[in-house]
Amino acid sequence: MTGCILSNKRIAPDIFDLRVNAPGLFVQPGQFANVYLDGTDMLLPRPISVCDYENSVMRLVYRVVGKGTAAMAQLKRNDSLRLVAPLGNAFTTKKGDTQKAKRVLLVGGGLGVSPLLYLAKTFRRAGVEVFGAFGFRSPEWEILRADFKGLIDFDVSYDETEQTISAHKGTVIDLIRETIGNFEMVCACGPVPMLKALTGLSQSAGIPLWVSLEEHMACGVGACLCCPVALKDSAAYKRICADGPVFDASAIIWQ
Ligand SMILES: Cc1cc2nc3c(=O)[nH]c(=O)nc-3n(C[C@H](O)[C@H](O)[C@H](O)COP(=O)(O)OP(=O)(O)OC[C@H]3O[C@@H](n4cnc5c(N)ncnc54)[C@H](O)[C@@H]3O)c2cc1C
Ligand code: FES
Repeated sequence: MTGCILSNKRIAPDIFDLRVNAPGLFVQPGQFANVYLDGTDMLLPRPISVCDYENSVMRLVYRVVGKGTAAMAQLKRNDSLRLVAPLGNAFTTKKGDTQKAKRVLLVGGGLGVSPLLYLAKTFRRAGVEVFGAFGFRSPEWEILRADFKGLIDFDVSYDETEQTISAHKGTVIDLIRETIGNFEMVCACGPVPMLKALTGLSQSAGIPLWVSLEEHMACGVGACLCCPVALKDSAAYKRICADGPVFDASAIIWQ
């Protein structure tokens, strides 16, 4: 589909919040959009997680890291944007865990908090108690505080900053080490070292953990096999774009 851009604002150093009119989609939390940069020499789409989808407006929060995302940052209100969405699986379709869990912890690292916003809204609508633990490099890199405020209770840690009234110094893993046992399920998105550490922690506590993975992609729709993840119970590699991006963390063979 091709949508009309409503806004594309910088919200942190090199991080932008793009809103595009995208009516008629059935989007589930954890899914992503393939963004096409028409009018450039870039033929491959850029996969970006859906941060939120409400009243036909899709929000994509992205960091400028290369040519494609730099081109996205130039997009203006009323420009057209071609995207294919929603793609991939979702947090909420997993084995009915969502229906059973009454207290869920969302763990996000950096830009990984983005898909957790729509997930938090979906859980809240389903009457699930949701808490957030979010880690950022420093306050200037923190995103989406205003969106989560009033929606869920959450705690924030900053890797590089002395403790403040509203946040802790250290990693997000430090933040939840003592409290993870209070929850029935954990959903997470963020850097691989954070997800690996969280896998160990959740296994020790016996709490199911679902993680959203990211990998370099080309086609983004399951055809080129360039986004593999090895699972313990599977002879063949799975494709992060088509079989994921959400996986049961205990099934992943972490590299
Ligand atoms: C499921 C999924 C969800 C994602 N969600 C977000 C998000 O919400 N916000 C965000 O900022 N980024 C997200 N990413 C990463 C984002 O896709 C890359 O940062 C982006 O494609 C980089 O494109 P580029 O042209 O600027 O960089 P370049 O490095 O110039 O890209 C070159 C090529 O490599 C691919 N590529 C590079 N890095 C990645 C990557 N990490 N993942 C997949 N393909 C990559 C590009 O699509 C392009 O084809 C997500 C990736 C995946 C797989
Ligand atoms: S990116 Fe082509 S199969 Fe995943």
